[in-house]
Amino acid sequence: MKRAIIIGATSGIGQEVAKNLLREGWQIGIAGRRQPALEDFQRIAPEQIKIQSLDVTQADAAEKLNTLIRKLGGMDLFLLSSGIGFQNPELDIDIELNTARTNVEGFTRMVNTAFDYFKQHGGGHLAVISSIAGTKGLG
Ligand SMILES: NC(=O)c1ccc[n+]([C@@H]2O[C@H](COP(=O)([O-])OP(=O)(O)OC[C@H]3O[C@@H](n4cnc5c(N)ncnc54)[C@H](OP(=O)(O)O)[C@@H]3O)[C@@H](O)[C@H]2O)c1
Repeated sequence: MKRAIIIGATSGIGQEVAKNLLREGWQIGIAGRRQPALEDFQRIAPEQIKIQSLDVTQADAAEKLNTLIRKLGGMDLFLLSSGIGFQNPELDIDIELNTARTNVEGFTRMVNTAFDYFKQHGGGHLAVISSIAGTKGLG
């Protein structure tokens, strides 16, 4: 059985990847902050989907990711797609720091937890979605 966890599957790229994996027969565990959006998605294929709301910027997100892995019965593939990005020409510091909390602190928290799981369970695939903006900027 192929089991994937996707963080950031309530919209966008993470949700589209989740739909593709469902079509290929994967069992998936999906996460994001919005519980109603997770429940809506789960209704597509309840027998194939486990859900867990979490906020990657919060300290309890690691524990919640481990809970989701347990609900799914294990994890073969981990995908992080919960990045955010804003045009911020005024360099509003709240926007900058919130982005860093999500894309740096949250990224580190989730990837460390996933890596640790794979280390203890003989391996797995770890994938993240970043952005070309990270290397070229946004103009
Ligand atoms: N779309 C593009 O054209 C594009 C281009 C290049 C790179 N990317 C990158 O691809 C990734 C995904 O982009 P997207 O366009 O699919 O974005 P999106 O539609 O805004 O989706 C972001 C997902 O992340 C979740 N999320 C955001 N903050 C979170 C938090 N604090 N804790 C947990 N989940 C959180 C959101 O769920 P909730 O709101 O439910 O929490 C949502 O499911 C990002 O890293 C982005 O930089 C996108």
